[in-house]
Amino acid sequence: MNNLSKITTGIAQALAVSLLLLGTQAMAAGDGKGKKADKPDPMQVVRGAKAWKNNCGRCHNLRSPKELNDEEWDVSVAHMRVRANLLGFEAEDIKAFLKASN
Ligand code: HEC
Repeated sequence: MNNLSKITTGIAQALAVSLLLLGTQAMAAGDGKGKKADKPDPMQVVRGAKAWKNNCGRCHNLRSPKELNDEEWDVSVAHMRVRANLLGFEAEDIKAFLKASN
């Protein structure tokens, strides 16, 4: 195989893989009838877990994610975000973690 055809084959394979990935994502989005809205970004959940541990136990004991449901965490984190002086993205990360863990 010459270089050009190697490259073209490579591109074709990459394209096939991304189309496959897109297809699976579309399918996953399609059956989103469950209680949980979107599947959280795992990296966001990890960042949120760290931010939660570092911030949410400063003034009171860490509240377990299980204490509240998704809607209640939306309200509570909006409230605590002001108290804890968190940036918007930190509050979003923490919510993603709490909602993935309740
Ligand atoms: C600066 C101090 C402080 C920090 C930081 C803080 N809290 Fe609080 N938190 C409070 C106080 C004070 C209360 C009780 C009075 C009130 O409701 O404001 C409270 C109450 C709560 C409650 C009870 C219900 C409610 O919403 O009032 C929950 C749940 C809670 N905090 C979760 C969190 C989470 C999650 C974080 C991290 C994002 C956090 N807290 C960070 C001070 C703090």
